[in-house]
Formats: sequence, structure tokens, C-alpha cells
Amino acid sequence: MTILVTGAAGFIGSTLVDDLLRRGERVRGVDCFTDYYDPSRKRSNVRAAIANRAFELREVDLVTDELSGLFAGIDIVFHLAAQPGVRPSWDAGFTAYAARNIVATQRLLEASRQAALARFVLASSSSVYGDSKDLPTRETSITAPHSPYGVTKLAAEHLCSLYARNWGVPAVALRYFTVFGPRQRPDMAISRLIDSAQDGGPFPLYGDGSQLRDFTYVDDVIDATRAASKAVIEPGTVINVAGGSSVSVSDLIDLVGRTVGKRVAVTALGEQAGDVRQTAGDISLAADLLGWRPRVSLVEGVARQVAWQTSVA
Ligand code: UGA
Repeated sequence: MTILVTGAAGFIGSTLVDDLLRRGERVRGVDCFTDYYDPSRKRSNVRAAIANRAFELREVDLVTDELSGLFAGIDIVFHLAAQPGVRPSWDAGFTAYAARNIVATQRLLEASRQAALARFVLASSSSVYGDSKDLPTRETSITAPHSPYGVTKLAAEHLCSLYARNWGVPAVALRYFTVFGPRQRPDMAISRLIDSAQDGGPFPLYGDGSQLRDFTYVDDVIDATRAASKAVIEPGTVINVAGGSSVSVSDLIDLVGRTVGKRVAVTALGEQAGDVRQTAGDISLAADLLGWRPRVSLVEGVARQVAWQTSVA
């Protein structure tokens, strides 16, 4: 049995690949090394995996390349490839979001129809809820994305549920809430804060710092993702994967400063279109269906990310 992981060289994808290989699985990874951030970081994310004979990397563009060949011998797909990031999804940037989040997902689901999969797991996002007042958001809360990015992630979820209903593809979607930890994308808040604390210049603060995020540690996300490939779940189901507490960006700035042992200098840049006021995810469905709960606190997770970022600097 071989497991297909798309976005295998990214932050979460490469962490999942390493975890699966540690567990003795055979993994086929797909990535097209887009330049959303420095692709050499992605190459180093998969360096150890490539040295493992149980891993095979295919450089395939899910938007344009032929996909049927990817599925030979596959019974589980983890679809993590995406155009990530909330704030750059406006204007001309949207074309890449529509292609990489909607078209790529539809093409993979179409190819999955012939593949007799046991499970297709989509990495979705808390962004589908938008600026919800119904906090913590449950999977039954109204979805009203506040950014073009969120719209594309919600469309990808709908594609999963409609391929499940019409064609029996056993697809489920996980709504990840602001994931952090080693290998975090360099445009994300905690990564930038650590860089700033380590003399990388002031942290660009969007808004006044009172916005709140439910941060989720990457190893917890991997555990939930693996569990979603095995649990008995109705195809088309969506499940929140959240750290379980909301923390303001101001408190995060203090926490990173204390952890690194240096004050973080800040440049206030004003609110960014697409950013929501607060995210907070109800995780009772994940507990019921996956037997999952987060284990790594924000304090512990930030310490681990600081240690990693220091070691690769
Ligand atoms: C993150 C990911 O980037 C998305 O890909 C993902 O889908 C989303 O989580 C999600 O949970 O759905 P975001 O919550 O914006 O998006 O995560 P960060 O980039 O880490 O930002 C967290 C907070 O810090 C936001 O309020 C943001 O405005 C703020 N921030 C971020 C800054 O003030 N400055 C920065 O340089 C970066």
C-alpha cells in the first residue's frame, strides 16, 4: 500500500511525509515547488525523505499535468497542495488561488473516481468561516469566507462533498486553524516574529494586535490528519482541527519575545483586507469521530519552533 501526499514539500505536507515514513508507510509525494516562498526551503523540507527508499517524489503540476499515473497502487490520498495565505489572494493573485485550490482539487477528485480509494483527505481551512460571531465555530456554523482564499477553500470542500455524493469518492475535509511549528511558512506570524526577535528587523503588525487566532501545533494536525484516513466517517464530512484556545497577536508578540529572550520591535501597518477578527474552533466533532485532541500548548509549540528556526538560521 502506498499513500499519496500532495504538497509533499510544504510545511504541513513534508511533516506528514516524515511522520508516515517513520511509521513504515510507503509514500508517493507530489509537489511542483511553486515560488510563493523560496522553493529551496521546500527542497530542504524533503531532503531526509528523499534519502528514504520508501519515498518517491514526483514533480507534477496538479493544474496542468496528467494525473492518472499518480494513482497506481494508491488507496489513501492526503491532498495538502494549495496556494496558501489569506492576504495575497486579492486582485491578480486570485488566479493562482482559483487554479491551485479549486481546479487542482477537482482534477484530483476526478482522477480519484477510477482509483477505488479508501479515503481522500482534503486540507481545508478555518478561513471558510469568515468573520464569524458564532464562536467557537462548529462545523454546522454558517460559512461566509472573508477572503478570496477562503472562498477557494470552501469551493474545494464542496467539490469533495459533491464527488462523495455523486461518485462515491470517500472524501473528507479537515478545517485546519492557523498551523505553526517547525517548517512553518516564512510569511506566517510566528515565523516572522521569531525572525524579528532574532534581529531580522521589525515585525510588520497588521491591525492593532487585538485580533485573535486559534493556533494549532503541526504535530497535532498530523495526528488528526492520519486519524481522518482511518476512522469510520461518512464521506463528505468536514471536521475542525484547532488548537483549542484563542490568543491575541499582541500576546503572541510577548510570548515569542520571552521565548527568544529579546524584545520584538514592531512596525504597525494597519489592518489587512481579508483578515478576520477572531478564529476559534469547536473541536468536539474531532474528538467524537477521530478520538483526537490537541496535545501541544502554544507555549511549548513556540519553544519548539524557536529551537528549529534557530537551528536552520
Ligand atoms: C493562516 C494560514 O496562513 C492560512 O494558509 C490558513 O489557511 C489559515 O491560517 C487558517 O487557519 O485558515 P492566518 O490566520 O492569517 O492564516 O495566519 P498567520 O499568517 O500566522 O497570521 C496570524 C495573525 O497574525 C493574523 O491576524 C495576521 O494579520 C497577523 N500577522 C501575520 C501580522 O500581524 N503580521 C504578519 O506579518 C503576519
